[in-house]
Amino acid sequence: MGRLRGKIAVITGAGSGMGRVTSELFAQEGATVAVTDLSVERGKETVAVIEEAGGRAQFWQVDVSQEAGVAQVYQEIGWEFGTVDVLVNCAGIIGVDKPTHELSEAEWDSLFDIDVKGVFFSTKHALPYMIAQNSGSIVNFSSIYGLTGNDEFTAYHVAKGAVTMMTKQDAATYGKYNIRVNSVHPSTVLTPLVEGIAETFPGGLREYEKVNTANQSIRRLGQPLDVAYGVLYFASDESSWVTGVNLPIDGGFMAR
Ligand SMILES: NC(=O)c1ccc[n+]([C@@H]2O[C@H](COP(=O)([O-])OP(=O)(O)OC[C@H]3O[C@@H](n4cnc5c(N)ncnc54)[C@H](O)[C@@H]3O)[C@@H](O)[C@H]2O)c1
Repeated sequence: MGRLRGKIAVITGAGSGMGRVTSELFAQEGATVAVTDLSVERGKETVAVIEEAGGRAQFWQVDVSQEAGVAQVYQEIGWEFGTVDVLVNCAGIIGVDKPTHELSEAEWDSLFDIDVKGVFFSTKHALPYMIAQNSGSIVNFSSIYGLTGNDEFTAYHVAKGAVTMMTKQDAATYGKYNIRVNSVHPSTVLTPLVEGIAETFPGGLREYEKVNTANQSIRRLGQPLDVAYGVLYFASDESSWVTGVNLPIDGGFMAR
């Protein structure tokens, strides 16, 4: 308890999956959490769960792909909480499962608007707080498929590659302000994003797990908390000399 005591943390995509579980863990560890999501219903549910457990959180609706709205929300968070110490860029969609020669420009753009520009906009509008106080930690959600290729979900995987590089670029740029930027790279984690795909998989969830973990050393799907603990480490002062790291949290997928 208390690993984030006194910190103000903004989490995007906090209404579901890993964003929600990370928000709950952060609140348990003493952070005040600005829960942000496109979905009002799910975002408010996250706040309710945190408050029931005795934590501190407030919801803001935001579409991370719209800069004007993102800028407004960061201004309001500043009025409410005074600053931003930690930003977790978790919001993301997976988009269509098509190879390059079948993808339309609209499909590519709609995915990049959220998964790449969304990270850019939130980072851009959180940074002035961090620069002003000469400290901050940004944690980006990429994927194992932002580190290596495979033959599905092409636009998503290329977008996650951009997030991997944004992590290194921003780490290199903002270290002079004592701002750290790291990323987590999960393999398949059982969240609503994945449950939808697993449901329609031939043989259902059991077969999906078998196929999807075949190249992992630890052959189970991830749980949101497996990843949230990595995000907690990057957010906390325990990692104060750690920046520009792309950390796989993947049951050993990247090691094989
Ligand atoms: N689940 C996995 O296996 C897996 C693996 C690797 C990486 N990731 C990444 O981890 C992150 C979280 O994934 P998850 O599985 O927990 O997802 P999820 O679908 O459970 O939750 C994503 C949340 O993002 C929100 N969101 C979507 N578009 C938004 C927008 N434009 N503006 C604001 N919020 C928006 C959704 O409302 C939802 O609450 C994503 O970036 C995802 O790409 C997931």
